[in-house]
Amino acid sequence: MRHILIVGIGAGNPDHMTMQAVNALNQAAVLFVPKKGESKAQLADIRRDIIGRYVTDEKIRVVEFDVPVRETRDRSYDRSVDDWHAAIAEIYESLIETHVGETEKAAFLVWGDPMLYDSTIRIVERVKGGGRVSFDFSVIPGITSLQALTAAHRIPLNLVGKPVEITTGRRLAESVPEKGRTTVIMLDGEQAFLKVEDPEARIYWGAYLGTEQEIVISGRLHDVRDEIARTRAEAGAQHGWIMDIYLMRSGADFDE
Ligand SMILES: C[S@@+](CC[C@H](N)C(=O)[O-])C[C@H]1O[C@@H](n2cnc3c(N)ncnc32)[C@H](O)[C@@H]1O
Repeated sequence: MRHILIVGIGAGNPDHMTMQAVNALNQAAVLFVPKKGESKAQLADIRRDIIGRYVTDEKIRVVEFDVPVRETRDRSYDRSVDDWHAAIAEIYESLIETHVGETEKAAFLVWGDPMLYDSTIRIVERVKGGGRVSFDFSVIPGITSLQALTAAHRIPLNLVGKPVEITTGRRLAESVPEKGRTTVIMLDGEQAFLKVEDPEARIYWGAYLGTEQEIVISGRLHDVRDEIARTRAEAGAQHGWIMDIYLMRSGADFDE
């Protein structure tokens, strides 16, 4: 039976690759590399760099494919994501059918770790459930952008014995951290941190983590938020794309 490996490749630094991920890529007959348009060409380059460095067998085939852009017009957010997943599922199905022999393994290279704000696992499940192409699959973990963020700032993720929430910029308003709690924000196109009023909150922000352009800023939110907004806008304009993640909390270890 065909076997699909969903491989976490880390969040931007080729050194994030684990031995398990390297071994998985080298077991595959085909590597599927997503491309997300010109503005994010650097991300495809990082994936190519990883293959160049770690894949030793020249017979392993590399197939690049374009990821469609999510349509948002005239539909709810959930509908928009579901339609998008359906479109990607069709592409995956065709990739597997066309490029993977009946007993071969193939790998999808997934940014960071496949469990964190990534839909490769659920889309592969969808294709498998569709039943038109039969295969089994496994997931290989990777270093996430969240780990890259906490390492860059040299901080633990949680305060001692306290909870953590991970959310998106769109939903930050529902999860502004109460004292002692930590909130991590990903996929924030709207700089949601600018709307947080807590005077005690601290922010740990990072962009392009693991890459040569890495930028990190931390401090009291009200002291550094304008600097982050300015830096973010300038870097985005300079590079043509930006990926950033941040952690906010108020309080300290052992506060009750
Ligand atoms: C679709 S999610 C993918 C997350 C990925 N699966 C992970 O494990 O980190 C993309 C979001 O992850 C964050 N991200 C991923 N890589 C990053 C990096 N190198 N630097 C900063 N943020 C990053 C950003 O919040 C970005 O909007």
